[in-house]
Amino acid sequence: MREFIYFSKKARTSGAFKELMSAGRLDIACHVIIMTFFVSNAIRKNVKLHLFFYGPPDPPKHLEIMNPEIISKKDISGLIKRMLYKYKKNKKNEALPGCWIEKKSFQGFVEELSEQDRNIYLLDPKGEDIRKVEIDKNSVFIFGDHEGIPKQELRRIKNKVKKISIGNIAYFSSQVIAIVQNELDRRGID
Ligand SMILES: C[S@@+](CC[C@H](N)C(=O)[O-])C[C@H]1O[C@@H](n2cnc3c(N)ncnc32)[C@H](O)[C@@H]1O
Repeated sequence: MREFIYFSKKARTSGAFKELMSAGRLDIACHVIIMTFFVSNAIRKNVKLHLFFYGPPDPPKHLEIMNPEIISKKDISGLIKRMLYKYKKNKKNEALPGCWIEKKSFQGFVEELSEQDRNIYLLDPKGEDIRKVEIDKNSVFIFGDHEGIPKQELRRIKNKVKKISIGNIAYFSSQVIAIVQNELDRRGID
């Protein structure tokens, strides 16, 4: 199972939003979800996506999506909205089949993964070339939104991650996930 972590400092943490771009750029989260799960004529079943939203009014929120039963490219914003509305205090709530929401910090989650001895890669143009890095099938990849991951958060996780690069160009978040998935596909890593 491949796993990706998307961090957004401003993405809204309640379902009460009207317009995606002014809701902390939830439009980017939508593109990321599409690139995580959709390929031409199929849905990827071998991937888990974690979205960490740190915007108002109630950060942080951890949205986890894996093998979603109902997902339509036409209504990804509706999916995010429903998940945020289904948040329940002190509980990891299955908002929809394959979609969970809870209050959890990005740092705490990375620490949990590290305790499980997972290989955690931070996508960074200054990192080691992904093509030279050995990747196993339980690897986790972290990337940020248009503003990147705040320095404070990076400091907290720096001893737990290895920086890897997909080249010198600063890609959109959704392009990053598409490129990494392609790399894994070509290596036959599920
Ligand atoms: C649009 S970029 C963010 C740019 C932002 N100004 C910054 O300095 O981080 C979105 C995310 O994609 C990842 N990323 C973009 N291009 C990359 C590259 N060439 N190699 C590795 N990661 C990349 C980084 O994780 C980044 O946080």
